[in-house]
Amino acid sequence: MSAFKDSQEKQYVRENLWINGILSFLGNSGVNQPRYLCMPGSRAIFEKQLIEMGKASRDNIVACEIDNTIASDIVVALPGCKIIRGNIDRLLGGPKDRLSSPEQRTQEKLFSLFPFDIINLDYEGEAMPLDHNNLSYRIRVWQKIIERQYPTRPFLFFLNTLGQPNRGLKEEHSRIIRDYIIKDIADHFKKKIINDMWKKVESLGGKQLSYKYSRICLYAVPMKIIFLGFPKFKVSLLTAPYTYVGRTGGNKSRMICFAFRFDTYPEELSAGVKRDKDKYANLEQAIDLIEKTVEVYSEEDDYILGKYNLKTNSNWWETS
Ligand SMILES: C[S@@+](CC[C@H](N)C(=O)[O-])C[C@H]1O[C@@H](n2cnc3c(N)ncnc32)[C@H](O)[C@@H]1O
Repeated sequence: MSAFKDSQEKQYVRENLWINGILSFLGNSGVNQPRYLCMPGSRAIFEKQLIEMGKASRDNIVACEIDNTIASDIVVALPGCKIIRGNIDRLLGGPKDRLSSPEQRTQEKLFSLFPFDIINLDYEGEAMPLDHNNLSYRIRVWQKIIERQYPTRPFLFFLNTLGQPNRGLKEEHSRIIRDYIIKDIADHFKKKIINDMWKKVESLGGKQLSYKYSRICLYAVPMKIIFLGFPKFKVSLLTAPYTYVGRTGGNKSRMICFAFRFDTYPEELSAGVKRDKDKYANLEQAIDLIEKTVEVYSEEDDYILGKYNLKTNSNWWETS
């Protein structure tokens, strides 16, 4: 176990999902010093570990932080890295005319730092928070990231979010998120896989709403991201998502963690048909991986890993 641990489960995610993903990406992309956009938190535990491993350098790290005190801690923890102070969702997704003048300047600075080889958005909040129009502004954020990345450069995208709504739990909320999936998925695909999955989720009672929501997010987030990436990138889940129960103070929260690889297309494959086939192939592959979602929990110094087949196991929410 490394010296960088805080929560055992989180450290497991860092060392397995993130580090393994980064090592394999660096191994076959020819990138040595990745340009890295992240939300490191006050101790920058993971970024320090990457630097110590020789897999990142401070001058190529761009750290975004909403909280001023934490931003000052990051200056101390990662001297020399670039710090973007502000709400990354507003800065990446906010239409310019809705931002204050200082935010507009920060946005320009952030945009000038694109493209990145690794983007690691490690949120504490929910996966797809809704705005007043019942749309998720997070989707706009993902869209903007994809727009800003160069079509000729592959990249990794890690996303950690709450697998439950932030405030209160509404049936309506789950329905809206589910509609994000249904709206986007072609008929044959919807019938074959999504309907089965959805019937199962619908059959869960009110008491299991948290579980229902997290299960919907497990499907909806990768599907939306895979769809947004095409046709510019070929997007795949690197591995099965991870889930664990995070503890802050006395509160427990279900977290879900995804790792995506965005691959580029050679020029000659710009024809839409091939890319469309890839989109469905990658969605099918993502669904297989989602059904093998890995639950991480620790007992003293030992990790216990559970692999969950979501088709048959509806208990993993309760087991935590
Ligand atoms: C989960 S912690 C980061 C943990 C860190 N990556 C690690 O491995 O330990 C999330 C950090 O991002 C900040 N944060 C949360 N939402 C944000 C947002 N929308 N924009 C910018 N920073 C945000 C939080 O204040 C916190 O410092």
